[in-house]
Amino acid sequence: MRGVFYVFSGTGNTEAVCRALAAEWEKRGIQTDYVRLKSGQETPDPRGYDRVAVGYPVHAFNAPAPVLQLLKSWPRAQGTAVYFVKTSGEPVRLNDCSCAKPAAILQKRGYKVAGEYHYVMPYNIIFRHSDGMAARMWQAAARRIPHDARAMAEGTFTPWPHGPFKRAFSFLLRIEQAAMPHIGRHFRADERCVGCGKCARICPQGNIRMENGKPVFGKSCAGCMACAFYCPTDAVHLGVLNGWRVNGAYAFGGEPATDEEICRYCNKAYRRYFAAAEAYPLPEAGAGLPANEKGEAREAGQSAAREADAGNANAREDAAQSAQLRA
Ligand SMILES: Cc1cc2nc3c(=O)[nH]c(=O)nc-3n(C[C@H](O)[C@H](O)[C@H](O)COP(=O)(O)O)c2cc1C
Ligand code: SF4
Ligand code: SF4
Repeated sequence: MRGVFYVFSGTGNTEAVCRALAAEWEKRGIQTDYVRLKSGQETPDPRGYDRVAVGYPVHAFNAPAPVLQLLKSWPRAQGTAVYFVKTSGEPVRLNDCSCAKPAAILQKRGYKVAGEYHYVMPYNIIFRHSDGMAARMWQAAARRIPHDARAMAEGTFTPWPHGPFKRAFSFLLRIEQAAMPHIGRHFRADERCVGCGKCARICPQGNIRMENGKPVFGKSCAGCMACAFYCPTDAVHLGVLNGWRVNGAYAFGGEPATDEEICRYCNKAYRRYFAAAEAYPLPEAGAGLPANEKGEAREAGQSAAREADAGNANAREDAAQSAQLRA
């Protein structure tokens, strides 16, 4: 059996979850291809696979524009089943809307949405979660991943309904996709920029070029926040979004937040989310600790930054763009 993950991820959260799910598919004997989406890249035909998953971070209660573009580019199919795997910073139900448009695109093209899996991961915009919250979120994901991966591997069919309200809400919020290229044109590097070029190397849209040792931002920003998040000197100024900038990878391997330490914002929703995930046992291997591709436990952000700085092409793909990569 063959499987494939198509994953868009700005700051590594969705990457971490999808890599872990893909590893579980492999354990179940599904030979799994993994495609990290970048602009201009060739992607395989989904119809050649027995299991297909599409991973993305929720952006303004929607799937990011590059994900919609990918799905629109797919050839017509006759019932190929597709799973969605999404991550978002808050556990509110409105994030369910993010699948409404991708589901509509797929259904029109003859695909079948077989299920949706939603993981809460720390914010890469708006505000910075505590590392304790990040650790608890990762543990919650780690508990669910074997269970969810098995359901997908077995072809379980659990579609979520997308009624008129969800479709209308996601339609209204898709204004973010129209606005982002304009907002992104006003990103700039301030005087803290040391000209390392990391932002240009990791931008999945190829939207940043280096000129005279400084980044210049183009017209195809998808708002993924990788540039601002991974800049080693926090030099990326995000124009009108600057007050929401989050810089620096999360340390997922620390002590998880206790119930009392759960952030006050959306407190009840986080509690509900954690309680549901914590019904599953914590897997022994890894037990919530990030591991690099060699299986060594690490503080993800530090390793990712080190590997990205080394300038190695693979490390850039697998580390700089995926700070929380777990094998
Ligand atoms: C432009 C933008 C919009 C976002 N909108 C939402 C949102 O509507 N709801 C939410 O819960 N999180 C939102 N987030 C947070 C991300 O979904 C979350 O941090 C996600 O895990 C990031 O995944 P990544 O690291 O794979 O990019 C948004 C992030 C960005 C950059
Ligand atoms: S990552 Fe930061 S320091 Fe490096 S070139 Fe970009 S803005 Fe400058
Ligand atoms: S410019 Fe920055 S926020 Fe925009 S797509 Fe590139 S890395 Fe992401």
